Amino acid sequence: MGGAMDRPATYAVKSLGCQMNVYDGERMAETLEADGLTLAADPAAADLVVLNTCHIREKATEKVYSEIGRLKRADGSRPMIAVAGCVAQAEGEEIARRAKVDVVVGPQAYHNLPALVAKAAAGQVALDTGMPALSKFGALPARRRQGPSAFLTVQEGCDKFCTYCVVPYTRGAEISRPFAAILDEAKALLDAGAKEITLLGQNVNAWAEGERGLDTLIRALDALPGLHRIRYTTSHPNDMTEGLIRAHAEVEKLMPYLHLPVQSGSDRVLKAMNRSHTTESYLRILDRVRAARPDIALSGDFIVGFPGETEAEFAETLKLVEAVGYAQAFSFKYSPRPGTPAANMDNQVAPQVMDERLQRLQALLGRQQLAFNQASVGRRCEILLERPGRKPGQLVGKTPWLQSVHLETDTAIGDIVTVELLSAGPNSLAGKLFPGEGRGPVTDSDLDPGLRRGTERVAA
Ligand code: SAH
Ligand code: SF4
Ligand code: F3S
Repeated sequence: MGGAMDRPATYAVKSLGCQMNVYDGERMAETLEADGLTLAADPAAADLVVLNTCHIREKATEKVYSEIGRLKRADGSRPMIAVAGCVAQAEGEEIARRAKVDVVVGPQAYHNLPALVAKAAAGQVALDTGMPALSKFGALPARRRQGPSAFLTVQEGCDKFCTYCVVPYTRGAEISRPFAAILDEAKALLDAGAKEITLLGQNVNAWAEGERGLDTLIRALDALPGLHRIRYTTSHPNDMTEGLIRAHAEVEKLMPYLHLPVQSGSDRVLKAMNRSHTTESYLRILDRVRAARPDIALSGDFIVGFPGETEAEFAETLKLVEAVGYAQAFSFKYSPRPGTPAANMDNQVAPQVMDERLQRLQALLGRQQLAFNQASVGRRCEILLERPGRKPGQLVGKTPWLQSVHLETDTAIGDIVTVELLSAGPNSLAGKLFPGEGRGPVTDSDLDPGLRRGTERVAA
């Protein structure tokens, strides 16, 4: 690691990987600010750059090294570099050997970031990849101002050990944050301006405290004034309880969207993946979810080219996708990860076969996504305005089904407005304010309950 450096005054955080990393990145920023650092106006000129990394696939890991290379400035100098996240956890000192970095900090240790930065500034080795369960949350400073849609990590780690996956090694064992601490953080996020909270966990639906499951937590959040929308991600099929499914029918603020990864449509492949569900059990869960909430938007994750996957087994994945009809999905080529059982399996699938399968799967999922968006055209629904659009006067918001909607409006980011959906593309829709231009923000009390649920169609 590097020699003595000045103590940094400004910082930038760059998060790669999943939403939990985005959450961790926000918490690291808060921790650094509590220690007196300020956000750099220009990230390229920051004194300290935190790279919050992802180890899930080889490509994600390699990105870290290209990002580090890019931090070198024209005059040969570079900022203090802290590598955080799952690559830091997985590679530890190795990353300091491979690349010039000053701090290495794992996902369970980042509350120690200020101390590590001070150590690095003094020219000492600054590495912390300890995994003391939960201690970081108690040591973190208060939440600060947020956008209208906020993330809240409630569960961390994974005990499922799918044979392809690094998460159980980089994030450690499954743990649930205490109910009371989560409610406190949710209230702090609402005080800071959040309207929507997405509960996060590598297996968020495994959250539990005694007899209470995620549905209890969702119902408690439902009672918080000022909170309009609740979401949760990512779920595992085996933890999809009856109570959680019922919450989709009964909890007004719980949005009609479910991300439920299946990975493959072949039971032989699922078994080799150690997924502990079958295609049949997965489809049965979706039937129950759809019975509870008929308009629910379904999303999933898929891996093509798991070791030994035959053409016939891949065809079963396509068949499953046809049977479900996804609103959105993520699909990946299998990437062998060091230390995971699947990396040592025979029959690794050739890269060109994986490429070709991924193309076919993505073409099908893309058609389904477009069809889902097109089926929304003509619908009237609420959107939460989250960010400026590309054109002046344009804002982008999200429907209850997590579709992005562009519209011209004089309302503000953070408003919840009713729109009519006018046209659809594969990745977003266009809408207009309902009932007409110039109407201010629509509040909950303006809407009849049917509209609040976002399911009413505009009469032809
Ligand atoms: N806990 C979540 C997701 C974890 S990682 C779950 O179980 O669903 C997100 C996604 O990355 C996984 O769902 C899987 O589709 C993909 N993934 C994980 N390991 C991978 C690997 N070695 N190669 C390719 N994709 C992988
Ligand atoms: Fe990885 Fe499987 Fe755990 Fe998801 S459930 S994080 S895919 S081991
Ligand atoms: Fe990546 Fe770690 Fe998330 S490996 S997907 S950042 S849990």
